Amino acid sequence: MDQSDKKRRAAEAAIRYIEPGTALGVGTGSTVNHFIDLLPPLRRSLKALVASSEATAERLRAHGLTVSPLDQVGDLDLYVDGADEANPAFQLIKGGGGALTREKVLAASARRFVCIIDDSKWVGTLGAFPLPIEVLPMARSFVARKLVALGGQPEWRKDFVTDNGNQVLDIHNLKIDNPVELESRLNHIPGIVTVGLFALRPADEILLADDREVRQMPKPA
Ligand code: 5RP
Repeated sequence: MDQSDKKRRAAEAAIRYIEPGTALGVGTGSTVNHFIDLLPPLRRSLKALVASSEATAERLRAHGLTVSPLDQVGDLDLYVDGADEANPAFQLIKGGGGALTREKVLAASARRFVCIIDDSKWVGTLGAFPLPIEVLPMARSFVARKLVALGGQPEWRKDFVTDNGNQVLDIHNLKIDNPVELESRLNHIPGIVTVGLFALRPADEILLADDREVRQMPKPA
């Protein structure tokens, strides 16, 4: 089974979390695209839909679904999104698609965050995937130097601008022994808009698709 099939099956498994009257946040990426494509028959169950990126909003609208601003909706009942890496504590690296800031806002405003992944994303320790960090353009070099001082190797994602008009640094070789501590620490560096570590607000559920099945991963103690 190829990766796209696994992503589709993880997306299918997330559909059961939608109940009548759900205010739903929708993440970004190829896994979530499968989820979006399954939403049209469920439109009557959706009280509101909020998108984490322009790309997601466009795909939802292409299905004839109405996208609302978070400001008008208030808190979300459910947020469904993929990840670049996930660990057994349900902490994540996200932002491979560059939508990390709005993704983090939606995750924070959701009562339940369901993360859908294929088995290539499941890791013991986060950090093999370079950590995306959204930065204000004028602070890019400053932030990069701070990350070098922390032992990382920042790479500027050239020719990429986020939906918020900012830039992205991908940080290679960062030691992420304590994701909560690192996320808190990086959050204090001026010029960083968003860190692609989702540890302070981890996922509530992880649905992991492998060759045989979709597993609901055991929740951290
Ligand atoms: C986008 C993200 C995505 O969730 C992450 O990159 C996974 O993408 P995909 O489902 O395409 O593997 O964080 O900013």
